[in-house]
Amino acid sequence: MLVVLKQDAREVGQEAARIVSAAVRAKPSVVLGLATGSTPLGMYEELVSLHKKASLDFSKATSFNLDEYVGLGPDNPQSFHHFMQSNFFSHVNFSKDRIHIPSGDLRTNYSEYCLSYEDEIKKAGGIDLQILGIGRNGHIGFNEPNSSLASRTRLKELTLETVEDNRRFLPKGEEIPECAITMGIGTILDARRILILATGKSKAAAVAKAIEGPISSSVSASALQLHPDVTFIIDEDAAYALTQRDYYRRVLELTKKYTPEKLA
Ligand code: PGA
Repeated sequence: MLVVLKQDAREVGQEAARIVSAAVRAKPSVVLGLATGSTPLGMYEELVSLHKKASLDFSKATSFNLDEYVGLGPDNPQSFHHFMQSNFFSHVNFSKDRIHIPSGDLRTNYSEYCLSYEDEIKKAGGIDLQILGIGRNGHIGFNEPNSSLASRTRLKELTLETVEDNRRFLPKGEEIPECAITMGIGTILDARRILILATGKSKAAAVAKAIEGPISSSVSASALQLHPDVTFIIDEDAAYALTQRDYYRRVLELTKKYTPEKLA
């Protein structure tokens, strides 16, 4: 695991965008796994800017989003469909038919639908680069604590903590989703490369458990220790509880010297 320590959220976004844009330039038909939430906003902003100012071309790329709330249609301003449109897709040249986001409109046949989402990922050749945030409870996607480390795309019941974390985005009085469709931990671990971003003190405990704690279904992100190509990009506040910060800095310096291709 590579741990890249950055000063603040702005630098985290820039570094993530640098890696994503390098992946798109190296393989225009790249398959990206995309995340929503406040953490990747800076990355999307930077990618939009690279598209406009440095002709970063997404026309051949494919995307699969991690998750969507059950019960929110694509036009609902709180849906992840809406988030992706307004923060990214409407500003770049992604081809509509290569964008995949789990449906929030389903009322039945969830398992069948989730199997078809997995099939679409397979048909696209698998995910080359998966972007993740991390929840305060260590979730990745909406894989809440005790999700099977082998889980696949499915309907997941949200914890009250997650519901509360998301309440701030929903207008007062609006019904708050209780469940989501999310890629599973097994689905995420199938990606060839994983970037996980974290900013702010509220994520420090989850980040420390994910990187330095035991692998446990109680902290979904700890499953990333099983993956051979994971990069954590975190700011100082989110890195606060890590015990090996100096060593991670040293690893980064030596990686630049010996195996710089790992940082491309
Ligand atoms: P956030 O969400 O980026 O809004 O903090 C991250 C997550 O819950 O995965």
